[in-house]
Amino acid sequence: MAGILHILLSVLALIPYSLAGKCWKDTSCSGPTASGFQGPWEENIYAPASRTVRPKILLDLESNSAAYAKSNAPVLHGNGSRLVFDFGLEVGGVVTLHYTTTGSGAIGLAFTEAKNWIGKWSDSSNGAFEGPDGALYANFSVAGEGSYTMPEKELRGGFRYLTVFLISSDNVDAWIQDVSLELAFQPTWSNLRAYQGYFHSNDKLLNRIWYAGAYTLQTNAVPVSTGRQVPMIEDGWANNCTLGPGDTILVDGAKRDRAVWPGDMGIALPSSFVSTGDLQSVKNALQVMYNTQNKSTGAFDESGPPLSQKGSDTYHMWSMIGTYNYMLFTNDTDFLERNWEGYKAAMDYIYEKVNYSSGLLNVTGTRDWARWQQGYNNSEAQMILHHTLRTGAHLATWAGDKALTNTYHSRADKLEVAINKYCWDEDYGAFKDNATSTTLHPQDANSMALLYGITNRTRASRISTQLTKNWTPIGAVAPELPENISPFISSFEIQGHLAIRQTSRALDLIRRSWGWYLNNPNGTQSTMIEGYLQNGTFGYRSSRGYSYDASYVSHSHGWSSGPTSALTNYILGLSITSPLGLTWKIAPQFGDLRSVEGGFVTSLGKFQTTWNRREDGYTIHFSVPKGTRGNVTLPFVEEFKKPSIKIDGVDVDRGVLYSDDTATVTVSGGGVHKVVVH
Ligand SMILES: *[C@@H]1O[C@H](CO)[C@@H](O)[C@H](O)[C@H]1NC(C)=O
Ligand SMILES: *[C@@H]1O[C@H](CO)[C@@H](O)[C@H](O)[C@H]1NC(C)=O
Ligand SMILES: *[C@@H]1O[C@H](CO)[C@@H](O)[C@H](O)[C@H]1NC(C)=O
Ligand SMILES: *[C@@H]1O[C@H](CO)[C@@H](O)[C@H](O)[C@H]1NC(C)=O
Ligand SMILES: *[C@@H]1O[C@H](CO)[C@@H](O)[C@H](O)[C@H]1NC(C)=O
Ligand SMILES: *[C@@H]1O[C@H](CO)[C@@H](O)[C@H](O)[C@H]1NC(C)=O
Ligand SMILES: *[C@@H]1O[C@H](CO)[C@@H](O)[C@H](O)[C@H]1NC(C)=O
Ligand SMILES: *[C@@H]1O[C@H](CO)[C@@H](O)[C@H](O)[C@H]1NC(C)=O
Ligand SMILES: *[C@@H]1O[C@H](CO)[C@@H](O)[C@H](O)[C@H]1NC(C)=O
Ligand SMILES: *[C@@H]1O[C@H](CO)[C@@H](O)[C@H](O)[C@H]1NC(C)=O
Ligand SMILES: *[C@@H]1O[C@H](CO)[C@@H](O)[C@H](O)[C@H]1NC(C)=O
Ligand SMILES: *[C@@H]1O[C@H](CO)[C@@H](O)[C@H](O)[C@H]1NC(C)=O
Repeated sequence: MAGILHILLSVLALIPYSLAGKCWKDTSCSGPTASGFQGPWEENIYAPASRTVRPKILLDLESNSAAYAKSNAPVLHGNGSRLVFDFGLEVGGVVTLHYTTTGSGAIGLAFTEAKNWIGKWSDSSNGAFEGPDGALYANFSVAGEGSYTMPEKELRGGFRYLTVFLISSDNVDAWIQDVSLELAFQPTWSNLRAYQGYFHSNDKLLNRIWYAGAYTLQTNAVPVSTGRQVPMIEDGWANNCTLGPGDTILVDGAKRDRAVWPGDMGIALPSSFVSTGDLQSVKNALQVMYNTQNKSTGAFDESGPPLSQKGSDTYHMWSMIGTYNYMLFTNDTDFLERNWEGYKAAMDYIYEKVNYSSGLLNVTGTRDWARWQQGYNNSEAQMILHHTLRTGAHLATWAGDKALTNTYHSRADKLEVAINKYCWDEDYGAFKDNATSTTLHPQDANSMALLYGITNRTRASRISTQLTKNWTPIGAVAPELPENISPFISSFEIQGHLAIRQTSRALDLIRRSWGWYLNNPNGTQSTMIEGYLQNGTFGYRSSRGYSYDASYVSHSHGWSSGPTSALTNYILGLSITSPLGLTWKIAPQFGDLRSVEGGFVTSLGKFQTTWNRREDGYTIHFSVPKGTRGNVTLPFVEEFKKPSIKIDGVDVDRGVLYSDDTATVTVSGGGVHKVVVH
């Protein structure tokens, strides 16, 4: 027996890893081949170097300890026996097995993202809400060698654990000689580690969180022909539907829904920009929303095809906000020109619903993220409309339509007054869920009010304090979805605190919520979960009467990747303020950190910042493309005391703008600069 094992292990060791440099199947490669910034931070990238991967660990479930495959015989003995392979992180694609058997039978393959749903049934993904998905079978009728490759239609988009089990008579053995997986995600990239952005700080947990957000987004960039089957099937699963144009497209989740959801992109899009830099998947996702827009009403669907859900005013507006973000990051004026009429029709469609004496939006398309109630003058929808109008004003400028810029701005101004008049609860110190006398103060609307600057500083400060009342040791419970913790809505909350420079609150929430999940041994330990319950179980929404299995929850959901853009834009403090970064902003927030660096790339070039704190002050190095200009906002070293500032060795005292314990200096021309503050 030991001899056979030895031979088998030698065979395993001889099977070569395929060379890096492949794109998915016959997809043409168009992604970057080299990373934008090389350095030690690349060790934190979860993405494998090769598109072909193998399990890292053979799990010993009986002793509940993990052992390396080398010390375990990869053999199934008789009916019902099983082996559990752990890939060590979230993966997705098509598995190939090589095996040798001593009789006839079938080898089953079952998949799960979370450790606590390991079994002979895959976790739930088909959307029929009838429980787990079941298994695939490699059937063999005679003894000998065989191999099996999953049908592409049954590609498994997201999993970490693969259970391989035998169905046969009791005297059959099956040796599993090789398990390999062809990763399907980010199909146009030949080098899955060619990130165009990076982040590195003295806090290892925050670094892991940033990279887990980035990896989540990679697993959500999928081949366009691998969308989930609709109408939903109840038996097994199928990922064989076309999602939109192009080769690669950004969907909501790796395992499911595998559909374009524009609301999710409100978080996923900015995080993609600062990390992988993959905007091709974003472009195709937005384009399919324009392609399927209702030409007579101007309404966007709530989700892309084949799901094509309808009737969501908030997701309608997120397609519009996504258009702004995409333009900001790419200056793709062809895209804007092609879709500008559609955009304006979408604005008319939504603004027609602002026809109530209060000046508030009357939400009639009531589908939304999982919040329990939507409709009427819901506050979250008002905040989203406000941001739609402001970003629409910028888009109108870029589209050369100055009159419309003014129209959209003045509508936003009016809406802001109405929101502050009708939705505010002065006694409590936060926005209510709508303009009635409700006592519910939602996490979404209040976080967005901070992030989008919809209220004044007295109120903003009260909101930030009140939001912390929803916190538990493992995250913020959303009052608008009781018992549930939403890393999607918490992604707005952390940015909301940061927008008003409540740095330590934001860092605290990032660590307790995303840190909790990333360190949870039952999770993927490499991606961001869709949502979870306040009692620490993964059954997001199961407390609210949804009938499906708790294993339906996606463990790799781009809408939960908020810390990735938040850490770059607010903690490192680097962001762009006009297309491609012709103007930019550097406004670091230190919190309890000592040093942070990071950067990203646009077609103008690289943007990079490093800051280091000292006992008596700090130093910032930055490098931005030639011909650009921006504001550098420097925190005071001591409260209420104007600091001494040197840029490239020269004292700066003229033209400094002081506000909120910060000093702002404009730097023109681009290039490499050093700022010393004490
Ligand atoms: C992981 O799941 C197992 C099985 O459901 C459970 O007993 C354990 O408490 C979970 N661990 C954590 C940290 O949630
Ligand atoms: C393969 O084996 C499974 C499990 O025994 C069985 O349910 C299925 O019908 C078999 N398929 C074929 C094509 O024989
Ligand atoms: C194999 O095990 C399954 C599940 O326990 C059982 O239904 C089936 O009858 C067994 N097959 C044989 C040939 O023993
Ligand atoms: C996808 O697979 C399902 C289930 O087998 C099938 O009903 C459907 O027609 C297929 N769809 C496409 C677009 O091939
Ligand atoms: C567009 O919306 C109208 C009004 O809701 C509806 O009657 C019509 O069927 C929609 N058209 C398409 C192509 O979905
Ligand atoms: C954006 O594109 C427009 C139209 O092609 C061009 O005029 C403008 O200079 C571009 N902006 C930047 C920052 O390159
Ligand atoms: C707005 O309300 C007025 C008065 O109720 C009504 O006459 C008008 O048709 C409404 N407009 C729209 C666009 O709904
Ligand atoms: C909101 O719109 C619905 C549907 O058009 C309408 O029935 C309702 O009266 C409107 N409410 C207000 C306050 O305008
Ligand atoms: C206002 O919000 C509360 C809390 O979500 C809800 O119970 C109530 O139905 C809402 N009112 C209207 C008119 O939408
Ligand atoms: C904030 O807005 C409220 C309502 O408009 C107003 O009463 C308050 O004075 C404002 N505070 C500041 C500091 O502007
Ligand atoms: C967690 O909460 C949910 C919803 O209330 C409940 O169904 C579940 O049993 C709880 N689980 C544990 C382990 O407390
Ligand atoms: C710098 O900040 C000032 C004041 O907010 C603003 O007017 C100016 O446009 C900013 N400059 C750049 C390059 O962003």
